[in-house]
Amino acid sequence: MAVRSLWWTAVLLLALTVSVCRGQQRYLIFLNRHVDFPWNPPLNYSQYCNFMMVNRSINAPGSCRPINTFVHAPAASLIALCANQPNRSLPFSQQQFPVTVCRLIRRIPTCTYRGTPHNHRVQVGCWGGLPVHLQNTTTTLAS
Ligand SMILES: *[C@@H]1O[C@H](CO)[C@@H](O)[C@H](O)[C@H]1NC(C)=O
Ligand SMILES: *[C@@H]1O[C@H](CO)[C@@H](O)[C@H](O)[C@H]1NC(C)=O
Ligand SMILES: *[C@@H]1O[C@H](CO)[C@@H](O)[C@H](O)[C@H]1NC(C)=O
Ligand SMILES: *[C@@H]1O[C@H](CO)[C@@H](O)[C@H](O)[C@H]1NC(C)=O
Repeated sequence: MAVRSLWWTAVLLLALTVSVCRGQQRYLIFLNRHVDFPWNPPLNYSQYCNFMMVNRSINAPGSCRPINTFVHAPAASLIALCANQPNRSLPFSQQQFPVTVCRLIRRIPTCTYRGTPHNHRVQVGCWGGLPVHLQNTTTTLAS
């Protein structure tokens, strides 16, 4: 009986560890893909996008993400959006942040982007109290 409950405790702990790690891993991917801060506004946003997409290794070999947005806000401000939020919730920031939207304009010979700066509200997807997904960025607050 004692051995049995110990076994289940071990299984439960393992499952918990794996799921927590998964959430953290997704958070780290989110940071790499979508957060650049601190940051100095570049002279040329397209050059910035082309640099960052390579620098962060965002494109898998042989493919180009059609769109990717970088948010220029501290990670803490984005984590704060997910504080006490249930999994799969999609909160918006009240505040606007500088963002750079990178849109694919050419695939050949290399993934080439046009970058545009905005001040946008940011909508993230939460998991385990951490932002793991950038849903969208917008000028208007969806109700
Ligand atoms: C910005 O950089 C892109 C890509 O290198 C280039 O095509 C474009 O002409 C540059 N824009 C300006 C205003 O220099
Ligand atoms: C990314 O940029 C940083 C800072 O400029 C540089 O130190 C690093 O080597 C770059 N990494 C890649 C893979 O381009
Ligand atoms: C949300 O997901 C995390 C990580 O998988 C889990 O530990 C937590 O219990 C979940 N929370 C809710 C409210 O479902
Ligand atoms: C955000 O959503 C709008 C409307 O659904 C869409 O047109 C736009 O391309 C999206 N932007 C990003 C960065 O995904």
